[in-house]
Amino acid sequence: MAQTYQRIVLASRPSGAVKPENFRLESVPLPEPGEGKVLVRNHYLSLDPYMRGRMDDAKSYAPPQPLNEVMQGGTAGEVVASKHPKFAVGDKVVGPFGWQEYGVSDGTGVRKVDTARVPLSAYLGVVGMPGMTAWYGTNKILAPKAGETLVVSAAAGAVGGAVGQLAKLAGCRVVGVAGGADKCAHVVHDLGFDDCVDYKAAQGVEGIAARLKDAAPGGIDAYFDNVGGDVLNAVMKRLNPFARIAVCGLIAGYNGEPMPIIDPRPLLRDRVKLQGFIISDHPELWPEGLAELGALVAAGKLRYRETVAEGLASAPEAFIGLLQGKNLGKQLVKLA
Ligand SMILES: NC(=O)c1ccc[n+]([C@@H]2O[C@H](COP(=O)([O-])OP(=O)(O)OC[C@H]3O[C@@H](n4cnc5c(N)ncnc54)[C@H](OP(=O)(O)O)[C@@H]3O)[C@@H](O)[C@H]2O)c1
Repeated sequence: MAQTYQRIVLASRPSGAVKPENFRLESVPLPEPGEGKVLVRNHYLSLDPYMRGRMDDAKSYAPPQPLNEVMQGGTAGEVVASKHPKFAVGDKVVGPFGWQEYGVSDGTGVRKVDTARVPLSAYLGVVGMPGMTAWYGTNKILAPKAGETLVVSAAAGAVGGAVGQLAKLAGCRVVGVAGGADKCAHVVHDLGFDDCVDYKAAQGVEGIAARLKDAAPGGIDAYFDNVGGDVLNAVMKRLNPFARIAVCGLIAGYNGEPMPIIDPRPLLRDRVKLQGFIISDHPELWPEGLAELGALVAAGKLRYRETVAEGLASAPEAFIGLLQGKNLGKQLVKLA
């Protein structure tokens, strides 16, 4: 086994867009797991938009990422040494080890996974936190009924791709919103959405609303919002009475951009239910949701795409790319 391993720490807080110099790559000695501890070699690191928020020292639902400490994040890997009764060498696990090649733990937040029917990497995406986010927001907040029209933004991403497919399984007309013709083609042809609006080509609220009118001629009953901003304002022009909006993410504002709701009148006129949610607030539902998602993936009924960067050193660039929309599906970094 290696004597040292690499990790990435937060070197400075970004002002506006994230830059490579906000991170620092370090080489450190490989620890021995003490009594009751387990040593895991991380095979995949999950890159997620929430990490952008944690890089700021600002009020949020979670404390900020401390400076000069390993960037927090989800990982999937293999136990390589264990003095923990519940883990054996060779176990495949997901855990909160962050941006590093190895991690030591007392088992808190570490979960064994079965890779016989679902590949290890998928436990960070469609059968992991993003999949659960899609499952919860779709089923517990939007609760779409057969025949309704559901719109989801960041539709070619990890969460959005799953939302649209779950809504199709529920019998909905599903319209994605994504940036670019290639992403829209993926959403329709590979994931089976009914239509997709390229918000970049549509240029602004009025343009997006016009395209939504074509794609959702009967209006919008449910909107899974991953972005806020222009897309939210456009969707609000096309809502049906008693529409539901699940506010999952507001990525259009993650660098501090202003994102006003231009006209709140539809909220009252259409008796809209608008609810934000954070998936970590609902741990009691994870076993049920993950079991359902895993079964759908194993049965080929829930498809997913991954964009995989190679090696820990590529993580900052890949993370910046994720925030700029360079990813298709779940953004991962392969570490081993
Ligand atoms: N509430 C929760 O508990 C929870 C949990 C997980 C994720 N989330 C949120 O869910 C959203 C999706 O997460 P994910 O992991 O699935 O990421 P993702 O969709 O795979 O990647 C982020 C995508 O956001 C889009 N984007 C970036 N800037 C944008 C902008 N200014 N306007 C519109 N779209 C923009 C890009 O796609 P385009 O190329 O299409 O622009 C990019 O690919 C994020 O907002 C995230 O913070 C929330």
